[in-house]
Amino acid sequence: MKIHSLFILAAGLFSSVAHAQPQSEAAINTKIEQLVRQMTTAEKVAMIHATSSFTSGGVKRLGIPELVMSDGPHGVRVEHGRDWNPDRNVYDSGTYLPTGVCLAATWNPQLGYAFGSVLGSEAAFRGKDVILGPGINIIRTPLNGRNFEYQSEDPFLVSKMVVGYIKGVQDQGISACVKHYALNNQEILRTSIDVQLSERALREIYLPGFKAAVQEGKVNTLMGSYNKVRGQWATHNQYLMNEILKKEWGFKGAVISDWGAVHSTMQALWNGCDIEMGTDLSMLPNPNYGRFYLGDTVLKLVQNKIVPEYILDEKVRRILYVMMKTNMLGGQRKKGSYNTKEHQQTARKVAEEGIVLLKNENNLLPINKDGIKTIAVIGVNADRKQSLGGGSSQVKAFYEVTPLQGIYDLVGKDVQVTYAPGYEIRRGATADQLSINKAAEAASKADVAIVVGGWTHGYNYAVWSDNAYDAEDIDKPDMNLPFGQDALINAVLKANPNTIVVMMGGGPVDMSQWIGSARAVVQAWYPGMEGGNALAGVLFGTINPSGKLPMTFPKTLADVPAHKLGQYPGDSVKVYYTDDIYVGYRYYDTYGVEPQFAFGHGLSYTTFSYSNLTVTGNGKSATATFTVTNSGKAAGSEVAQVYVKQDKSLLPRPEKELKGFQKVFLKPGESKKITVVLNSEAFQYYNDAQNKWVMEPGSFHVLVGSSSRDIRLTGKVTL
Ligand code: GLC
Repeated sequence: MKIHSLFILAAGLFSSVAHAQPQSEAAINTKIEQLVRQMTTAEKVAMIHATSSFTSGGVKRLGIPELVMSDGPHGVRVEHGRDWNPDRNVYDSGTYLPTGVCLAATWNPQLGYAFGSVLGSEAAFRGKDVILGPGINIIRTPLNGRNFEYQSEDPFLVSKMVVGYIKGVQDQGISACVKHYALNNQEILRTSIDVQLSERALREIYLPGFKAAVQEGKVNTLMGSYNKVRGQWATHNQYLMNEILKKEWGFKGAVISDWGAVHSTMQALWNGCDIEMGTDLSMLPNPNYGRFYLGDTVLKLVQNKIVPEYILDEKVRRILYVMMKTNMLGGQRKKGSYNTKEHQQTARKVAEEGIVLLKNENNLLPINKDGIKTIAVIGVNADRKQSLGGGSSQVKAFYEVTPLQGIYDLVGKDVQVTYAPGYEIRRGATADQLSINKAAEAASKADVAIVVGGWTHGYNYAVWSDNAYDAEDIDKPDMNLPFGQDALINAVLKANPNTIVVMMGGGPVDMSQWIGSARAVVQAWYPGMEGGNALAGVLFGTINPSGKLPMTFPKTLADVPAHKLGQYPGDSVKVYYTDDIYVGYRYYDTYGVEPQFAFGHGLSYTTFSYSNLTVTGNGKSATATFTVTNSGKAAGSEVAQVYVKQDKSLLPRPEKELKGFQKVFLKPGESKKITVVLNSEAFQYYNDAQNKWVMEPGSFHVLVGSSSRDIRLTGKVTL
């Protein structure tokens, strides 16, 4: 074979291999430069703003497609069409995963990966390049309407759960979009409020999840939030975007604005916003996206040399980087799958591991179905589908097993199951005595009663906030159960002390009126399409619950630090986070305020004992080893948590801070030795007088336990 043809053969082989392999950064950059060099200024401008409800511009001439995005964090959203009119008759009902707080309550990073894989696979199937999740804003107040979409009050737990999720999505060839960066911790005034906070609170509480998403999760895109931070819009905020995200953290992907979050052409150009999304609804039905801040104006600014072209090139490079990472420019995109059994099983597993057993006096749970004849199921949430509620994170579920359905499917052939709604979901509805009487009557005739209440999502996806408490764009008025549920629960408990209270929703309610007399309480969040089966499994013991609270359940709203030390929701212009670093258990444990249920709390149908803690320090890090034993009769999983407490520090520090955890499955009598490495970051805090992370030499306590307030072992180490 002549040399010439050998060469051709080799080159051909190389290019096909290059296609199949994930491209090296160098190859990616070469390809990007090639494309940018060929683009006109107008073509570059077309790429940095929306071209429809969920797409941003491409360059047909060069084979650069539009970037196609879709919500949301726990399922691919209904097909919204290019003009915000939901497309009809499309195959867009998919896997409705449990929402973020339920995933976080599993404390299982591997499940985070599985969760992300389902999401990425279904997004690929639906022809999306970017899925607009995970949402990871810190849960600062239980009133935030979007807590259900988020994860935790603790930055370490967020950091561990977000990485798996992002890798899961992106290993399917799709880009995740971590949001909302940053400090979007309330929905009230979300598009205008200006958040003021200390550098220490920013660094220690509100940024770590995003930093992990970028540096460990290698997230390809990030969404800038609606609010302002220290006087400048978050989505084009010099400090957040240029200084921290791109310079300090080395973020290589693209910043996508929240929809309508851009307010200034020059700020968006200079302060790191790469794509302006949104639709000014007044522009419908024929929106002119050229009128965007990052639209035609930019062309004139560059052509008139008011803005240097390299600013535009930088944005285009980042967008092309995202496209290269998702095989949009050559390369094969995995085609993804939709509504598979595996996806549904993952949804179920997350629900089974995320449901939290809060209270179980005299082991009322699990219910032994052989010992009973009748079960009274009470409460609208028992029979309500939740998937379409909540706002932009809505999913048209392929199916949704409600709690009532799940209970019926599991025990309905052996036990009589009755149902009474007990209340109605209508804004401002108070206790309806007739409905309560009917429910109490049903409970009195049953061996066991199960009340399924809590918050609600709204229902109609066109008006997501109808009667909703857990939804975008609104916050809850307080922590009180709506629709007269307190009176209902008390009436049912009186009619039948063998009553289990199941709460659904994105976070805590004020339980003070009935928690004393309720022997068993379960937190079920929004457990997704298989939630009813998962909940039934927990209630009847085919599943041993292992969920742990990812946020504190306070006794009353007045105890919440954001309300007691901080400002919420602020005045109409600014909100001061004077609760500072004392968010969640960092407050309750430091200020000695007893919560209803502690951060990290969750019971099991078995018991676990802890022993043999040794903590060995070496220089700036330490290793904690200890043994966990299943000291009960049922197999189950325990989340062993490791907290650190610095004895003496220059600046005050919280009573304890989560710096490690591990979930272990143990058969009865089985023991496992657990090792948790505490690297130097586990001992540092951010000294914002010196503007740097510091680790002060001295002694530290290492606290190991089953929750932040159920510490079983303590060790000490001097570093
Ligand atoms: C919404 C939300 C954001 C969502 C976007 C697109 O306003 O804040 O989370 O991804 O707009 O629907």
